[in-house]
Amino acid sequence: MGQDAFMDPFSNTVGVFQCKIYLLLLGACSGLKVAVPSHTIHGIRGQALYLPVHYGFHTPASDIQIIWLFERPHTMPKYLLGSVNKSVVPDLEYQHKFTMMPPNASLLINPLQFTDEGNYIVKVNIQGNGTLSASQKIQVTVDDPVTKPVVQTQPLSGAVEYVGNMTLTCIVEGGTRLIYQWLKNGRPVHTTSTNSFSPQNNTLHIAPVTKEDIGNYSCLVKNPVSKMESDITMPIIYYGPYGLRVNSDKGLKVGEVFTVDIGEAILFDCSADSYPPNTYSWIRRTDNTTYVIKHGPHLEVASEKVAQKTTDYVCCAYNNVTGRQDETHFTVIITSVGQKWNTGKLEHFQAMKMLWMTSEYMNLLLFQMLLVFLGCQGLFQPLIVYQDKICTVQFMKLFSTSLPNSKTIQSEHSCAKQCIGVK
Ligand SMILES: *[C@@H]1O[C@H](CO)[C@@H](O)[C@H](O)[C@H]1NC(C)=O
Ligand SMILES: *[C@@H]1O[C@H](CO)[C@@H](O)[C@H](O)[C@H]1NC(C)=O
Ligand SMILES: *[C@@H]1O[C@H](CO)[C@@H](O)[C@H](O)[C@H]1NC(C)=O
Ligand SMILES: *[C@@H]1O[C@H](CO)[C@@H](O)[C@H](O)[C@H]1NC(C)=O
Ligand SMILES: *[C@@H]1O[C@H](CO)[C@@H](O)[C@H](O)[C@H]1NC(C)=O
Ligand SMILES: *[C@@H]1O[C@H](CO)[C@@H](O)[C@H](O)[C@H]1NC(C)=O
Ligand SMILES: *[C@@H]1O[C@H](CO)[C@@H](O)[C@H](O)[C@H]1NC(C)=O
Ligand SMILES: *[C@@H]1O[C@H](CO)[C@@H](O)[C@H](O)[C@H]1NC(C)=O
Repeated sequence: MGQDAFMDPFSNTVGVFQCKIYLLLLGACSGLKVAVPSHTIHGIRGQALYLPVHYGFHTPASDIQIIWLFERPHTMPKYLLGSVNKSVVPDLEYQHKFTMMPPNASLLINPLQFTDEGNYIVKVNIQGNGTLSASQKIQVTVDDPVTKPVVQTQPLSGAVEYVGNMTLTCIVEGGTRLIYQWLKNGRPVHTTSTNSFSPQNNTLHIAPVTKEDIGNYSCLVKNPVSKMESDITMPIIYYGPYGLRVNSDKGLKVGEVFTVDIGEAILFDCSADSYPPNTYSWIRRTDNTTYVIKHGPHLEVASEKVAQKTTDYVCCAYNNVTGRQDETHFTVIITSVGQKWNTGKLEHFQAMKMLWMTSEYMNLLLFQMLLVFLGCQGLFQPLIVYQDKICTVQFMKLFSTSLPNSKTIQSEHSCAKQCIGVK
């Protein structure tokens, strides 16, 4: 059996190749091989659909017969058309719809309708030294392509975090056998304790909404012949305030205490994460009285002329949609600079040292409060011992990130004595 003996009416190299493989596997070629590239073909309604078929045989042939049948579940197979050599005999009922150009066995269906969905069976008979037969089946589905989906958000005006729910509905006008999928920031949305889907997946329900649900949502709709994605929609979710903070443009900040030099103006900035943006109000507390001094995120405090003055402030952030609020307290201490250390107050130094030893961080606060409490204006400057030197608050800015520890204070006690001239 040489290649010369192999007859392929369409010089179909695939057919030859397949038959060669066949020969290798079985040791002999049965003579006729019918092949289809795909056993399932998805067609679009109204368009032409081509069902490719290849065949090859290996025997002298007189007649080549091709027959196409159509079958649907629970119905009798129907004869569509057939041919012998180059002459086609169609079923007259379907003659305008099905086309075949023998010896090419491929079938053209035009136009494709939903009723054309089913199994197409092609049978090839070769008449030569006896008769050889082979057949193949192709499943055809017919669909309308998907049109671009539109996402509807309920409620459109938005929902409040932990209170409101949200429903996204995917609406598609055209298309059959639709499969819906929801994407958030381009990634599939999964069922969670707060996310649920309708049985068809065309609706995404979030109950209740949280800040984490904020994102770019889209609906992806697929069917066997097409896929389309909606425009991005960003549901409105009201949340916050979260992470309220106060910062200043200058001055030294230690914990909730800002230290400002006398005569310096300081600008405070209050911020918190929230939607819609918070409304901010500033409250000042002096001498046991509290009053709102300003609305808005910024507050400028023009330092007064009196040193050692302590003023407590509160920044209040209020989200007028979620109805929630947060507040943060802070203290502004005004310090005077350049005054000389008074030598006669070692007891105070001792007392201060004790306080310093409690903790590095709290020390500064307590220390300064103590000064204020004692009414030591003019007598004392806030001071610390750093690198064998007693320094006033003025220099604290230089090492505010690494305050000297209490051990230094202790060991430098004697030095401190010398420095301040006390025996
Ligand atoms: C088909 O073609 C072959 C070879 O050309 C010929 O011998 C045979 O008679 C033809 N059959 C018909 C039905 O025309
Ligand atoms: C059959 O005809 C179609 C066009 O009608 C062509 O594309 C295809 O290659 C042909 N098949 C063979 C096996 O010649
Ligand atoms: C026809 O087939 C038979 C058996 O399959 C074989 O013995 C015979 O040689 C074949 N004749 C030709 C002309 O190929
Ligand atoms: C949100 O959904 C939950 C559970 O589905 C329901 O109990 C609640 O009443 C809904 N809230 C609103 C505001 O619709
Ligand atoms: C959502 O989309 C907007 C613009 O459409 C883009 O600026 C933003 O970065 C997107 N967010 C995410 C989380 O992808
Ligand atoms: C709905 O989506 C889930 C996952 O997101 C999937 O497992 C399920 O098969 C889908 N259902 C339908 C009817 O498409
Ligand atoms: C501060 O105010 C509270 C109540 O507003 C009052 O009971 C208290 O006596 C006041 N203290 C001083 C020092 O005025
Ligand atoms: C809520 O506050 C915003 C400003 O952040 C303002 O524009 C809006 O009118 C307020 N809404 C209500 C209901 O008070």
